[in-house]
Amino acid sequence: MEGLCVAQSAQPLGLYVHTFGCQMNTYDSLRVQRLLAQDGYALTTNATDADVIFINTCSVREKAEQKVFSLLGRLRRLKSRKPSLVIVVGGCVAQQLGSTLLERFPHVDVVVGTRALGSLPHILRSVRRGASRVAHVPDQDEEGWRELFGQTEAWVTDVVAPVTVMQGCDNFCTYCIVPYVRGRERSRPSREILREVQLLVEKGAREVLLLGQNVNSYGKGLEEKTRFSDLLRLLARETDVVRLRFTTSHPKDLTDDLIQCFVDLSPLCPHIHLPFQSGSDRILKRMHRGYSAEEYFRKVERLRAACPEISISADVMVGFPGETREDFERTLDLLRTVEFDSLFSFRYSDRPHTAARLFPDKVSEEEKAHRLTELQALQAAITLKKNLMEVGQVREVLVESTSKSGQGQMSGRTPHNRIVNFEGSQALKGRLIPVTITEAYAHSLKGRPVFPLEDLSGQRP
Ligand code: SAH
Ligand code: SF4
Ligand code: F3S
Repeated sequence: MEGLCVAQSAQPLGLYVHTFGCQMNTYDSLRVQRLLAQDGYALTTNATDADVIFINTCSVREKAEQKVFSLLGRLRRLKSRKPSLVIVVGGCVAQQLGSTLLERFPHVDVVVGTRALGSLPHILRSVRRGASRVAHVPDQDEEGWRELFGQTEAWVTDVVAPVTVMQGCDNFCTYCIVPYVRGRERSRPSREILREVQLLVEKGAREVLLLGQNVNSYGKGLEEKTRFSDLLRLLARETDVVRLRFTTSHPKDLTDDLIQCFVDLSPLCPHIHLPFQSGSDRILKRMHRGYSAEEYFRKVERLRAACPEISISADVMVGFPGETREDFERTLDLLRTVEFDSLFSFRYSDRPHTAARLFPDKVSEEEKAHRLTELQALQAAITLKKNLMEVGQVREVLVESTSKSGQGQMSGRTPHNRIVNFEGSQALKGRLIPVTITEAYAHSLKGRPVFPLEDLSGQRP
């Protein structure tokens, strides 16, 4: 009997993680996973096998929040079948709603804010020992929020590793909840980021994606005088990272020293995500974005002059309060002039705390839906045209994972951030291989490795 008990306690505890929202949430989920590994947790692929479920949430749009509520609703039954299950809600909805989540969802055990993830192991230990349900949502960073979490020997990484370089945002765009749920801008010291990138590269990461709501203003408040371009140069010089990317850039803070990095730094991929939100100056002003459509376009020209092959993606929204048909036409004009390689488009929705929720002249849901369909049709044609121009080109693809498009298919990205599916085996994961693009679709490309598969099975280049 005693032996059986020992065997049971040696079993790892099951941790199921579900992440909504931006890449910064993906990074935070990884931190939670790494931190809890020390307490004997291993990831499970099914929620039903878990002892703890961690849901990392996003509240940037109303729809994002509804998705969280609907998942929480679905978990009620699982919890009633397995009362020992601990359900944890983290992320931006947790930060926004705090203990009201516990009231609204009686089967949720723990609510943990965006600034307190480091406390999770301790909270879980006490809740699993029978302590009461808890909402821990401090409005200041807890000690150590930005440090490396957990014993690094146990770290595992994918081929592409996210690394958050700064948190929060000071811009207060009038539609946006992020400054309220993530707080003011604060950057991690460059040495600490360097250490983390070196470690991830040692563990097998080949591409590092540097994250922040507004990476261009990296360095604000740090004792050291490091701009974001300095950080990129440091990482390119001091690590063996094969590819570097970053997101998101704010157009008003996109400076020439950063643009120059696309010329000078070979690991930096020729792609930038540069949200513009609207093509109408009147709306941009009401959004508090700090640039005009003309200024945005000039930045695009500067980027293209420095790096002619650069691909540009962006975010845009339709139906901001007061947006007329005329304003919307200006947005369509910007799409036609810039010809984005890809675009994320959203319907405006009111968010708590924001200034825009109180603006008059709300656009009807019907009109927003209509504008979004029109905008997406225009962009779909542009994206497809650009993807078709890839056919016949040889692109270097970093192989990331097995493809969703079928058996025996692998998937990776070109330097320009286009997804390429091709015939290949798992052994290629993490390799950079030349691929001839053979077909183009709306959201991906199909290709054929330049060298026969048997020639690709050797050592990594
Ligand atoms: N920091 C990034 C954006 C982060 S939020 C930036 O400044 O560009 C991601 C995107 O969600 C935004 O670019 C915007 O297009 C969209 N978004 C944010 N708040 C929204 C709202 N209230 N309604 C609709 N879309 C919104
Ligand atoms: Fe939100 Fe604007 Fe900050 Fe982006 S820059 S996170 S849209 S407030
Ligand atoms: Fe969403 Fe929070 Fe990211 S609101 S977009 S998860 S910072």
